[in-house]
Amino acid sequence: MMNGQQPIVPKHVAIIMDGNGRWAKERGLPRTIGHSKGVEAVRRAVKAAGEAGVEYLTLFAFSSENWSRPENEVSDLMGLLRRFIRRDLAELHRANVRIKIIGDRENLKGDILPLLIEAEETTRSNTALTVIIAFNYGARDEISRAVKRLVEEVGAGRLDAASITPDMISAQLDTADIPDPDLIIRTSGEERLSNFLLWQAAYAEFVFLPGYWPDFDANMFHEALRIYSARDRRFGGLAEQQAAAAG
Ligand code: IPE
Ligand code: IPE
Ligand code: MG
Repeated sequence: MMNGQQPIVPKHVAIIMDGNGRWAKERGLPRTIGHSKGVEAVRRAVKAAGEAGVEYLTLFAFSSENWSRPENEVSDLMGLLRRFIRRDLAELHRANVRIKIIGDRENLKGDILPLLIEAEETTRSNTALTVIIAFNYGARDEISRAVKRLVEEVGAGRLDAASITPDMISAQLDTADIPDPDLIIRTSGEERLSNFLLWQAAYAEFVFLPGYWPDFDANMFHEALRIYSARDRRFGGLAEQQAAAAG
């Protein structure tokens, strides 16, 4: 939906960064090269989102199911995350970017968890773009952890099961203080969520781009924003009501 001539910028964009392996395969390169090219695409995405006026950018970096990949690929991906935080944290901090991590923090080995916490702590008070890294993230795992906490509250007699609302469930998710995504982009032509933000995506718009993640750039980002801008979001109501609410 257009607001006069101005395209509507989504407040929260979430990206399923997919296609690193296929990008490499098409070039006869090992998958790991695709992943390291993918890190450069992350930098371009953060820059493009900030410049477009997006407030929250969530990046699906490693799913709770990605542990099933060969051990050397998993350790390459861990190494890349480690290096990304070590190399880019200072610059992201200078750019006033706030970093948040979602996903299960239990059972993360070695220095990964301390590094993630350092990134969050260092940038906690920053006020420009919020970059949310979904790491060891799976929506069903996230929802299960939330349910476990609510059930514990009920068991302890601090919560009445009959009074549980959707908002109370949202408040128990890793994304508790983050608005729902308006736009979810997936690269590489795959058209599925792969256990990403299942609860939060209830009214998100989906844009599937054919390009592989290592080729992601500002042009692809703007293409997704343009498609989003032309969509009619109704939230179960009528388009006229949404237009009236938007002023
Ligand atoms: C996305 O690229 C990166 C992660 C899932 C960590 P893939 O590694 O899934 O690349 P394809 O899908 O095999 O091409
Ligand atoms: C989703 O991509 C996870 C990330 C982008 C981190 P996958 O490549 O793991 O998803 P499937 O296996 O194709 O569904
Ligand atoms: Mg993939």
